[in-house]
Amino acid sequence: MLKIAVAGTGYVGLVAGVCFAEVGHQVTCVDIDETKVNLMKSGVSPIYETDLEGLMQKNYSAGRIDYTTDYKSAYKDADAIFIGVGTPEQPDGSANLSYIATVARQIAESVEKDCLVVVKSTVPVGTNDKVEQFIQDFLVNDVKVEVASNPEFLAQGSAVHDTLHAQRIIIGTESKWAEEMLMKIYEPFHLPIVSVNRRSAEMIKYASNDFLALKISYMNDIANLCELVGADIQDVAKGMSFDDRIGSKFLNAGIGFGGSCFPKDTKALEYLARQHGYELKTVKAAIDVNKKQKTMLYKKARQRLITFNGLKVAILGLTFKPGTDDLREAPSLENVPLLLEQGADIFAYDPVGKENFARLYPEGKNGNGSITYVSSIEEALERANVCFIFTEWGEVKAVSPETYKKLMRTPLVYDGRNIYSVHEMQEAGVEYHSIGRKPVVREGLKESKNLELQTVGS
Ligand code: UDX
Repeated sequence: MLKIAVAGTGYVGLVAGVCFAEVGHQVTCVDIDETKVNLMKSGVSPIYETDLEGLMQKNYSAGRIDYTTDYKSAYKDADAIFIGVGTPEQPDGSANLSYIATVARQIAESVEKDCLVVVKSTVPVGTNDKVEQFIQDFLVNDVKVEVASNPEFLAQGSAVHDTLHAQRIIIGTESKWAEEMLMKIYEPFHLPIVSVNRRSAEMIKYASNDFLALKISYMNDIANLCELVGADIQDVAKGMSFDDRIGSKFLNAGIGFGGSCFPKDTKALEYLARQHGYELKTVKAAIDVNKKQKTMLYKKARQRLITFNGLKVAILGLTFKPGTDDLREAPSLENVPLLLEQGADIFAYDPVGKENFARLYPEGKNGNGSITYVSSIEEALERANVCFIFTEWGEVKAVSPETYKKLMRTPLVYDGRNIYSVHEMQEAGVEYHSIGRKPVVREGLKESKNLELQTVGS
């Protein structure tokens, strides 16, 4: 059992802290927000994440985890301090490291025994060196402090599972002592550990995330081409997936990737490369494809409808993916302002994302249009002129094609997640547009697929 402090209680910090406690370590989670700390002490998770609350309560009752704003007491005698604070994207695409710097300074001023500082937040290559230097410069007591990199690969919605059953643990260290300390911390997890130097560990994180982002953008690019040449992206993906060099995961074309990692990490790596005088063309292409992809369906719909003014527009799904209330870089955020500007009356449904969305777009009149949050899919679809599917929630997937036909004033569906069979939508009499597949166009309306795609980005 080791004494571990964790700085930051967002997705990275809190999940790591709870999982360390779960395998038997003594954990203190530090956050500057007093209200959040009290909430966590009472067993409530500040983030919506499967299994997290149960493990928080279990380990708090067992005395293995505590939460505090008093960083000094948490850091002073810890064997290891994990930094899991945010590194938000700045307007130029670089990562903002000010939260890391604040924590590093607090650590330097608090530690009273030798300890390992482990950076879990995603940081540009070379940051760990700087953090170590920074801590040394501000160190108050005569103790040894080393910095190690231990990037995080959890996905939101399955964060606890991804941590307890990670496919690999990456540790980046510059000394035997640091390597052994991290090995000891991770030993109870019984997972494969890849031990490399600090800069390689930092790069593994970006290279992995950006590879997945590239994979998605590649499929989106191919999907757009499929539409032009009459191929079906889902069949294409299926055919590709049997080659185990390609694999079957992350081949789903759609309305673009969002979330807290892929958009930020692609921009950050592209920025890092630029800083070093190198043009990272592949990642840049992934970013560009993704940007266009997000408004692809809006553009198709605008072409089809001429205007959204006064139309009832149903939106199913607001979050960037199912299983989370996170809206960061969600396609809905790109499309809603465009629809409102065009005078749409939006009726939005999302099982958990409505509150967060309403903070940005309060219910009622908004610009030329309006937005209403509804608690059932049926309310959103009732007499709607058009429907956009932005998130593949289970509840949305459960809606039958006939329901669109029955409830909507005009059954016109733009599906950004390819959740329906084209054939079934056609059978049900729904005009259906999706990504990289043949559209079902209403009789009498000319199919304008080439024009739609050629105008993308213009
Ligand atoms: C991701 C990585 O999976 C995780 O390893 C890393 O630590 C953080 O970033 P997350 O952002 O939580 O996790 O979600 P993920 O499930 O990976 O999805 C990211 C985005 O890609 C979503 O918007 C999703 O809709 C999209 N996506 C995913 C696709 O469009 N197609 C796919 O095939 C897979």
